[in-house]
Amino acid sequence: MTDSELDVDELKRFSFSVWSYKQGEMVSLMIHIGDQLGLYSALAGEAPMTAAELASKTGLKERWLFEWLRGQAAARLLNYHDEDRFELSAVGAAVLADENDSLSFAAGAFSGSTPPETIEKLIDAFRTGIGLSYEELGANAAHRTERMLGPWVKQALVPEILPALDGVVAKLEKGAVVADVGCGGGIAIAAMAAAYPNSEFHGYDPSSHAINNCNAKIKSQNLGNMKTFVAGGKDLPESATYDFIITFDCMHDMTQPAEVARAIRGSIKENGTWLIKDIRSQSDFKKNMRNPLLAMFYGFSVSACMSSALSEPDGAGLGTLGFNPEVAESMIREAGFSHFHQHDFNDPSNLYYEVQP
Ligand SMILES: C[S@@+](CC[C@H](N)C(=O)[O-])C[C@H]1O[C@@H](n2cnc3c(N)ncnc32)[C@H](O)[C@@H]1O
Repeated sequence: MTDSELDVDELKRFSFSVWSYKQGEMVSLMIHIGDQLGLYSALAGEAPMTAAELASKTGLKERWLFEWLRGQAAARLLNYHDEDRFELSAVGAAVLADENDSLSFAAGAFSGSTPPETIEKLIDAFRTGIGLSYEELGANAAHRTERMLGPWVKQALVPEILPALDGVVAKLEKGAVVADVGCGGGIAIAAMAAAYPNSEFHGYDPSSHAINNCNAKIKSQNLGNMKTFVAGGKDLPESATYDFIITFDCMHDMTQPAEVARAIRGSIKENGTWLIKDIRSQSDFKKNMRNPLLAMFYGFSVSACMSSALSEPDGAGLGTLGFNPEVAESMIREAGFSHFHQHDFNDPSNLYYEVQP
């Protein structure tokens, strides 16, 4: 069929929608560059600035900044004022500049695109069925994951989430043994290790890149009560060792999550607590379609989560949206846990499950 035989308006709408994704790719790259150069931080809290003023503040080249600034205004990320002045609003600063204090910080998620060799392997995975583990995704992906998931955990875990769990804070204050399974770069476990010096913390992750990032935190924050293992959830001790176990944003990435749930059951004390954080989703795809960012989550799934969960033959392959409350509850009960309580914590992307034997 030629274009002239198609509905012109529908063709325009569809083309626009496809090109919008290309625009998203280009704007993503510009956000990454702005983040790496500290441009959002340089603009934050300032009156509207010209490219010359931003150049003098950052020591960067005015012509390059001018093109970037106009592009950011075109993307509606900066406010445009007369005489080519550009402003980052307070809300813009919360999302793009403030990594330490804002729960909404997002710019860290843009750190670099998928390398061409990884894309080739992902294309091949559609033929072989076998995906890439987080180890194979490399150091850049580990770093990006940490910056994307970190702000919420760093700011909400100790003050808000742990106090909502039954008896956990009292145990941590007194002296508990804790495991973070699938600890990634260790943001959660390091935050707990710093807050509860009487307790002992063990981080498990099969990715050496993730564990390297954890070890760097142990060193820089002088965390004598934390140690790490390049190991998966199935390698947990078989005897009841842990008072508290967390699995954050990783059950859906595992090739054998049901086996890991059983290993957690074996290594947790009878009065212990397992806290699971996993992506907010429902079993009904039509209901998930209400999520305006659903396509992005499927992109994460094919390029990382489902890929990891299929990185061995017979992998469960749950993927980013696959560990919904129904799947979680049935897997956890089958593993031998009898208490299952869902929390919300107003986290836009995740649900939390408090589980006990
Ligand atoms: C999306 S990251 C989340 C990391 C961290 N928990 C966080 O919230 O930042 C998923 C992690 O799960 C780890 N993982 C994958 N399979 C695993 C397994 N079988 N046991 C433990 N961790 C696993 C990956 O290596 C990766 O670091």
